[in-house]
Amino acid sequence: MRSQIVAGNWKSNLTFQEAKTLIADLQDLKGSFPDDVKVALAAPFPYLGAFASEVKGMHLAAQNSSAHEMGAFTGEVHPEMLASLGVDHVIIGHSERRSFFNESNEVVADKVKRAVNAGLNVFFCCGELLEHREEEVHFDLVKEQIETGLFDLDETAMKQIVIAYEPVWAIGTGRTASSEQAQEMHAAIRSWIANEFSEACAENTSILYGGSCKPSNARELFAQKDVDGGLIGGASLSAKDFAAIIQSFA
Ligand code: 13P
Repeated sequence: MRSQIVAGNWKSNLTFQEAKTLIADLQDLKGSFPDDVKVALAAPFPYLGAFASEVKGMHLAAQNSSAHEMGAFTGEVHPEMLASLGVDHVIIGHSERRSFFNESNEVVADKVKRAVNAGLNVFFCCGELLEHREEEVHFDLVKEQIETGLFDLDETAMKQIVIAYEPVWAIGTGRTASSEQAQEMHAAIRSWIANEFSEACAENTSILYGGSCKPSNARELFAQKDVDGGLIGGASLSAKDFAAIIQSFA
């Protein structure tokens, strides 16, 4: 059975002290989280080592990892380094990495393979720009991201993959995909996985929604048949809002 997951992507926000306060506040609220919801926090790289021992009952994620082997790649962070700190998840292919740092589908695929080989679970991000939706090529575009990013993996490796559908026009804009738009894309993603791998693989792969998800809309989004939780940006910076989102499963 697939997991229900809520992951906070802090992006390039919060000083170390602010991040420690947020974690302490979340630890205080943790008793109110449903037992069957997996919670992950994607903190900036420099905080991960310190947080590995501090984050209890939640998972720790990085926001990126290297496409290269270990070695002479100044500034790169290899997924094995993350795993050796106790980090168990990594976000790969976020639209901000794709657009601001020119990460192609091929680079994203290399990162996914390295992360999976290092034993990390991957939040694999995909999603279309507004112009793609307006031109009605959004399904083609997301399918291509998924095919290139994931379809070289074998079915065992797919157990380490969580997909996050994040329509770029909904990220940080306050404009959320409607629950119907989210459900429609999630169902399509699940059918592509079923065709490429198996029905069981599709059934067991969690697919999260991301893009202006907040306490006021999380319940309706998470109630959709193929929406298994959320990847939360802005609202994950508030312990109260993030906790309310975690409590939004029906
Ligand atoms: P917002 O929730 O701020 O729209 O960001 C979503 C996101 O990019 C999560 O990875």
